[in-house]
Amino acid sequence: MKAVVFEGESNVRVEEQKQPRITGPKDALVRVTTSAICGSDLHMYEGRTTLRPGQSVGHEIMGIIDEIGSAVTGFQKGDRVVMPFNIACGYCYNCHRGYTNMCLTMNEQKAHAAYGYVGMGSYGGGQAEYVLVPNADFNCLKLPGKPFDEWEDDFILLADVFPTGFYGAELAHVSAGKSVAVFGAGPVGLMAALSSFVRGAAEVYVIDFIPERLAKAKELGATPINIREGDPVEQVMRMRKNSAPLRQRLHPGEEKLAGVDCVIDAVGYQARDDKEYSQENATQVLRNMVRLVNPAGHIGIVGVYLAPDPGAKSDQARQGIFAMPMADLFDKSVTVGMGQCPVKRYNEHLRDLIIAGRVKPSKIVSHRISIDKAPEAYDKFDRRVEGYTKVLIKFNPPKAA
Ligand SMILES: NC(=O)c1ccc[n+]([C@@H]2O[C@H](COP(=O)([O-])OP(=O)(O)OC[C@H]3O[C@@H](n4cnc5c(N)ncnc54)[C@H](O)[C@@H]3O)[C@@H](O)[C@H]2O)c1
Ligand SMILES: [Zn+2]
Ligand SMILES: [Zn+2]
Repeated sequence: MKAVVFEGESNVRVEEQKQPRITGPKDALVRVTTSAICGSDLHMYEGRTTLRPGQSVGHEIMGIIDEIGSAVTGFQKGDRVVMPFNIACGYCYNCHRGYTNMCLTMNEQKAHAAYGYVGMGSYGGGQAEYVLVPNADFNCLKLPGKPFDEWEDDFILLADVFPTGFYGAELAHVSAGKSVAVFGAGPVGLMAALSSFVRGAAEVYVIDFIPERLAKAKELGATPINIREGDPVEQVMRMRKNSAPLRQRLHPGEEKLAGVDCVIDAVGYQARDDKEYSQENATQVLRNMVRLVNPAGHIGIVGVYLAPDPGAKSDQARQGIFAMPMADLFDKSVTVGMGQCPVKRYNEHLRDLIIAGRVKPSKIVSHRISIDKAPEAYDKFDRRVEGYTKVLIKFNPPKAA
């Protein structure tokens, strides 16, 4: 079978590999119909992790069950499924509490396992024609419809970015009537904006440098903020201050709430500097969030902060240690939540919003390619050029029997 393999910095290639086989009674073998390239893959692609060459990658996967182990009871051959990027056991202390992102048994090195990802166990990547799914009863989500129907491109986003955006909104306590700012208009930021509306937000600002991505944010109903037009924190504050209805409704003292209630980081440790896009500035978004969040507000961080980072500029940054304005954070009495998304907590409810026609997350998909085009798509997605926002790899529909 064909699989996308990491070969070294800025280098992936499509390799012929042995098809995986069922190894245990609880496994399922899934024939992949669609797989996606994620912003998280780019940290590995750019050589900013300790991933060794030769590892197959890809953790956003959906397809058709091709074979099941003898102990799988909830699924059968032919079922259409999507998997959370987290691989979980379902029976450990953390899985029981809904923290499948911190499963304690599926990765010997630490809490959390995933497909095709550095440090997440030795699981094969899903940018491949087949993938082995451990604990299939727990890790597969059943889907209606048929491969390549009108939901295919929505359902693939249930593997990661839609639940992750929703989680960012939950960590930031987004609920009815709240004002929200999302840093980053990549797939995760766009899904955080969509999820904020699903959760009832009144105002959603999405902040980035990339015009095509900001246009997608606008399409979702959010207010785009282009950093190239000035300090994004000041832009949001000015916009809110200049709104007559927002100003006329203020109670005494409320003018101190110049920012927003909820702020979401959908960028992570490879954030660019607001003044110089070509430069990285790992704390740019963190510091902007502290400035923009209102007193007694909430911050949700789903952009990844990852160490060791062989490409970082200082010893501290290599270890993931960053200076934060802690005093301001404390002074404002904000809550801060962060981490990998426990996808299984949200994927079935978000699936049902898609089925009911209430959301169409696939609006953010920009490119659909065959696996042979993966190296070129990685390059363009990494450079965020030509409108590359969310790339889906499509595998050939099966021939009629
Ligand atoms: N927590 C999780 O479970 C989880 C899951 C998936 C992805 N992620 C992480 O989310 C982050 C975003 O991933 P993505 O898939 O959306 O793709 P992405 O990396 O392309 O999106 C990041 C966006 O942030 C923008 N950006 C850079 N610096 C900025 C700044 N200073 N202010 C505002 N925007 C800035 C970029 O232009 C880009 O559009 C990555 O760090 C990824 O690893 C986390
Ligand atoms: Zn992902
Ligand atoms: Zn577990």
